[in-house]
Amino acid sequence: MSEIFLNGAYVSLSEAKVSVMDRGFLFGDGVYEVIPVYGGRAFRLEQHMERLDNSLHSIRMDNPLERDAWEGIFERLTGAAREDQLIYLQLTRGVDPARNHLFPQGTEPTVFAMAWAAKPRDPAIAQHGIAAITLDDNRWHRCEIKSIALLGNVLLRQQAEDVGAGEAILIRDGLVTEGSSTNPFLVMDGEILTPPKSNHVLPGVTRDLVLEMARDAGIPCAERAISRDELETADEIWICSSSREVQPVTRLDNASVGEGIPGAMWRLMDSLFQDYKARPG
Ligand code: PDD
Repeated sequence: MSEIFLNGAYVSLSEAKVSVMDRGFLFGDGVYEVIPVYGGRAFRLEQHMERLDNSLHSIRMDNPLERDAWEGIFERLTGAAREDQLIYLQLTRGVDPARNHLFPQGTEPTVFAMAWAAKPRDPAIAQHGIAAITLDDNRWHRCEIKSIALLGNVLLRQQAEDVGAGEAILIRDGLVTEGSSTNPFLVMDGEILTPPKSNHVLPGVTRDLVLEMARDAGIPCAERAISRDELETADEIWICSSSREVQPVTRLDNASVGEGIPGAMWRLMDSLFQDYKARPG
């Protein structure tokens, strides 16, 4: 990553600077997106930009750039590289020397974007899956906003890492919500299940694509409330996100999920996903 986009200019990462009075820094007052780039093409761009607009609307900010301008920025940042990349973009409510909780008047948002090489797929995950633990979802009640204030998610993800697990699957009032930075799926009796969208779930772009591909392939699927018991007795569990694609969970809270190996339905979904990625524009 040689240059990044910051407030209308392309600057080197080492020279890019944001004021310490930025409301993103002081209050976590901003939103973000992570967009995968496969074969030089921003993947499901429409859906990511729509979610960005929804997040901005929820925090009462306007999108300062037109869609064409965003696309121009992404093209310049991703350059000619054909390797898989990730675009990160973030908008905050801008710089306010007053450090007042109230929205500042007439302040320009801080707009930041960068692209970097995605980690190559780890063959061990397809072979063995990952471990996950369940944790109490103690985050706020506006999880549908892709907020940069991620302390709740960070603490939960670290708690999983500390016991050797690759993700925390979160439970609120006895029901599965999402992962610390992923959306979960279950397979039960041949049906694919995921919790419905709500204020306790980020509407994942990868989640929606998995459902779309399942429906197109005629695989039974449903968006419905999932209890902890169902999670614990599922035949398969997957997690998915823009940076992790769809990954099989083969251990949950130190017990095997199903047969303890990536399941047949995951293999099918993963191959559908890889085919979809490879489709031209
Ligand atoms: N995380 N839920 C949460 C809390 C997330 O942070 C994410 C994504 C998802 C999956 O959404 P999507 O499929 O649109 O990536 C669900 C990103 C990748 C991150 O914070 O790095």
